Amino acid sequence: INIAEFQNDLISWFEREQRDLPWRKNKDPYRVWVSEIMLQQTRVDTVIPFYNRFMEWFPTLEEFADAEEERILKAWEGLGYYSRVRNLQTAAREVRAAYNGEVPDTPEEIAKLKGVGPYTAGAILSIAYGKPEPAVDGNVMRVLSRILLIKEDIAKPKTRKVFEAAVRELIDHDNPSFFNQALMELGALICKPSNPACLLCPVQQHCQAFEEGVQTELPIKIKV
Ligand code: ADE
Repeated sequence: INIAEFQNDLISWFEREQRDLPWRKNKDPYRVWVSEIMLQQTRVDTVIPFYNRFMEWFPTLEEFADAEEERILKAWEGLGYYSRVRNLQTAAREVRAAYNGEVPDTPEEIAKLKGVGPYTAGAILSIAYGKPEPAVDGNVMRVLSRILLIKEDIAKPKTRKVFEAAVRELIDHDNPSFFNQALMELGALICKPSNPACLLCPVQQHCQAFEEGVQTELPIKIKV
């Protein structure tokens, strides 16, 4: 793979084709954080109205940290997995107490926050702070398993590290935010689980699975 050409093809496509999503309007780390927590178990189309209302009710980390439990649960009604919003408030209070209200910008500090796993940490660090950190979720594993012909079982917890290492090799240090978001967007719009739109894919010429005609056989996920 020619990394510079891959980065350019991927990011130019993202600049042309990215969806207009409310959390892409500015890169306030608090807003990026809330969006990524909502998007963990919920689809983009479902999240949009909840996200917009959440930001009207709690425009800043400060206001969210101060909010009554009843109100944060009300804001989450319909999204499910209420532990997400409880953990988010615990973490927001920690940010206020320990970091003067500024979401930390290092992998070590951010990973300590309740509910912030490796994916969310990487998403905040890259999208809000422009740091070259991987943000690997299931969609990114699907995309990269195809491009790089990675045949590890994505159901194994240890496999995420293989993909994180791959992102560290490929990521555009001049634009980590767009690079990571472009991988997510490619997974959502083109490199879908079934019937991937390879003929429209901006990185088709870099894709080893397409070259071998095995794109629908990847990623490998061995059900237990
Ligand atoms: N899925 C997870 N994070 C996302 C993001 N930032 N944009 C679109 N889809 C996503």
